[in-house]
Amino acid sequence: MELTPRFPTFLHGGDYNPDQWLDHPEILHQDIEMMKRTHVNCVSLGIFAWAQLEPEEGKYDFAWMDDLVERLWASHIHVCLATPSGARPAWMADKYPEVLRWDRFFRPRHFGGRHNHCPSSPVYQEKVTAMDEALARRYAAHPAVILWHLSNEFSGDCYCPRCQEAFRAYLRERYGTIENLNRSWYTSFWSAMYTSFDQIEPPGPMGQESLPAMKLDWRRFSTLQCRRFIEMEKRAVRRFCPDLPCTANLMEDFHDYDYFELSGSLDLVSWDCYPAWGRGDNTETARNYAMNHDMMRSFLDRPFLLMESTPSLVNWKKVNQLKRPGMHLLSSMQAVAHGAQSVMYFQWRKGRGGAEMFHGAVMDHDLREDTRVIRDVTEVGLTLERLSHLYHAPLKRPQVCILYDWNTRWALDYAEMGMPGNMGYLETVREHYGCLYEQGISVDFRNCERFDPDEGYALVIAPMLFMFSSGIEDRLRRYVEQGGTLVMTYVSGMVDGTDQAFLGPTPYGLTDVLGIAYQELDALYPEERNHALYRENTLLEIRDFCSIIQAGRAQVLASYTDDFYAGSPCITRSVFGLGHALYMAARLTPEGLARFYQDLLKDLGILSPFPHPLPHGVIVTRRADHLFLQNYSGREVRIPTDRCWKEMIHGQTLRDCLVLPVNGLLILRSEA
Ligand code: GLA
Ligand code: ZN
Repeated sequence: MELTPRFPTFLHGGDYNPDQWLDHPEILHQDIEMMKRTHVNCVSLGIFAWAQLEPEEGKYDFAWMDDLVERLWASHIHVCLATPSGARPAWMADKYPEVLRWDRFFRPRHFGGRHNHCPSSPVYQEKVTAMDEALARRYAAHPAVILWHLSNEFSGDCYCPRCQEAFRAYLRERYGTIENLNRSWYTSFWSAMYTSFDQIEPPGPMGQESLPAMKLDWRRFSTLQCRRFIEMEKRAVRRFCPDLPCTANLMEDFHDYDYFELSGSLDLVSWDCYPAWGRGDNTETARNYAMNHDMMRSFLDRPFLLMESTPSLVNWKKVNQLKRPGMHLLSSMQAVAHGAQSVMYFQWRKGRGGAEMFHGAVMDHDLREDTRVIRDVTEVGLTLERLSHLYHAPLKRPQVCILYDWNTRWALDYAEMGMPGNMGYLETVREHYGCLYEQGISVDFRNCERFDPDEGYALVIAPMLFMFSSGIEDRLRRYVEQGGTLVMTYVSGMVDGTDQAFLGPTPYGLTDVLGIAYQELDALYPEERNHALYRENTLLEIRDFCSIIQAGRAQVLASYTDDFYAGSPCITRSVFGLGHALYMAARLTPEGLARFYQDLLKDLGILSPFPHPLPHGVIVTRRADHLFLQNYSGREVRIPTDRCWKEMIHGQTLRDCLVLPVNGLLILRSEA
């Protein structure tokens, strides 16, 4: 699937900051020579180059960029051209302090750092638009330029008077009247009632922090602010080249903006991926990042770009470990297996100074051309070239969908219940995901708004779907009725889209589908456990949460063994219409959860794409007709096989036994 009409194969390259090296022509020369040698075909240019591009207000200097774009192009290296709005020059902050952000204590920030702009500042909008238009006018038609890289890692909120006013305007539009807002925010609590929209400030430590519904609206508003900014940048760059796609680099496990929503303003999703690959067993890390990849693919339901990753290490984790031998290829191909159309790095060359001078990069301070990192990077470049046929092969629709929703994530984070601030939504979604991942089963993600019961999933899992919004209950009902299988858990369907508790039985609107009704939630201390007796002879371990439910029509698959609710139902299954709805009232430990899913997947006939059982830490991921066999276990693994396999990197034929060293990878196609 072509990401951009101008570039028909996997991208390999990364952030390139030649603006830091303009007084070192020999370095710029070495850069291009080494890009060719490492099979780099694309760089992201100008991400933080505003101060060089516009050294004085209105005086643009494109000479250095002209020269570099030409030189890169002469070596067949393409460019993702960045807009530099992620950081602004000192003259601008000096002359127009309004371009800077205000913090949540309502204090204006000073010049410095990056991602420090106010999205609603008219001056900033005007300056960004002028800069983006100038870049577009000059470069968008250049054949080297294949993609717009808008800004960098959009994040954060601004609390300045203008942004506050924009928040109030958003609320006026959303609620119409102040009475309606009061009702939706439940301001009858602690005398929080407003009599005018003008009284409302953003939630925060200086004022109102006790209205979860208000905090949720602030996050939705922040998402919208970011979308508006992206749309503004898109309009600017599109004026001169309407068909060049726009992306923005997203971040892992990101909390503050709703990425399903934000992606609606992007032509392509790209993201920055920085796992802490360690020395031993990396299976859990692999699971967490596989899930990130799958989510990124799901936002627009199409292949994505791996915009940043490190070829060796980062410099901002507590302990910054080198990627062990094999890990660079393995982790890069993990992204490809999940639908990435690129492997890109931060960054091409280590800077001599600044906060990131010791962050891993392809080229190091020693200027050597034969390092371990360079060899690893070259290997990835060559591998991408060998896999170029995969770039075009359509991705298969997974059979399983997990519902993941930012509204639920925020609402659970703000909910003073169970274990306040520690409800573990993301972690729980990961654990459910892991049970499929470890069996080689691909997963799509949808949020409440995007879930479509007719997409044909055999299994839909909705872990801890606390907030039912966009009428999700009706679509889940239809999904089950038509023959789907649904898994729901404790704390589902408790609040509506305004974060108010549903009155009546929950999970709201689905108690007849599930054949149960929720009653109470019990939280356990970290060392405490309960158990569920499952299918008459297996004990599943439970931690953190036990909810007490009343089973109506549902068949009880497991019951609690301990405490005053011993004997009451813990896992249930109901037949509804042509489908099934399962309810898991407690948080099972990973082993218990794995057992539950093994049985369920078997019942549903959802099978691993690999014909042999795999030991712990060996994961298979399918992309089109390729199987990526990945060894994260930290030890060498041998897998006996009675088939004949074509290995796609070196073109060998493999039979009898597949051998995977530590961090080993085999990309296979079955020959028989
Ligand atoms: C992010 C940023 C980059 C760089 C890297 C370092 O992804 O986008 O500019 O700071 O982190 O890991
Ligand atoms: Zn602002």
